[in-house]
Amino acid sequence: MKRVLKWILRPLLSRYFRPHGVLAPLTGRRMARRNMDDQRVAQDAVELGPGDRFLDIACGAGPGLAIAAGRAGPALAVGIDKEPAQVRLGSRINPSRYVLADVEALPFRDGAFTVASSVNGLLYWPIRERPYAEVARVLAAGGRFVATGRAPRAHARLRRLGVPSGNERAVCDALENAGFVTTRTVRTTVRDREILIVTAERSQT
Ligand SMILES: C[S@@+](CC[C@H](N)C(=O)[O-])C[C@H]1O[C@@H](n2cnc3c(N)ncnc32)[C@H](O)[C@@H]1O
Repeated sequence: MKRVLKWILRPLLSRYFRPHGVLAPLTGRRMARRNMDDQRVAQDAVELGPGDRFLDIACGAGPGLAIAAGRAGPALAVGIDKEPAQVRLGSRINPSRYVLADVEALPFRDGAFTVASSVNGLLYWPIRERPYAEVARVLAAGGRFVATGRAPRAHARLRRLGVPSGNERAVCDALENAGFVTTRTVRTTVRDREILIVTAERSQT
């Protein structure tokens, strides 16, 4: 029974984590609507504001970019996602800059951004050094980073279903290894869901 459940759920979950194929516009829009509040919470946590250069990692259809544009606007806002369907959808519904890219190889110069955010992105993926090193590289000294995702209980459930998923301690270790300091984790409730927020600052050197 458990096997059958895995067999059915895995492809469905993969469409949610990397919306692609014919359902991509539908999944992308739905996800963007659902994640608006999480994006607000993430941007509050790093006090995104005027003058910031903002990078939204795994931006999907771009709810983070829409929120960023609506607040006391960062000087620059760019979203990256590795799924072409999401980049196309985002570019149609938001006037921001979308770039098709993988977090493992960010096509930006060193220190290009002052804030980087990943909502329901990095926290869900298996922990590897490369993405965190890339985020550290494209952040200026003292730059702020935030990642949010469903809290650990949800991650544990995902792992049981065979979907790789990070965890709090491993994420903090990966950030510190990449040169981040003052790593903090906080839990809060957004629309009845427990959310984990991880923030960190890129070291000054
Ligand atoms: C659950 S969605 C979240 C989208 C968006 N952050 C939001 O708040 O609605 C996860 C996104 O991560 C993207 N993604 C997955 N692996 C990626 C990678 N290695 N680099 C860049 N984007 C990735 C997927 O294409 C998908 O759009």
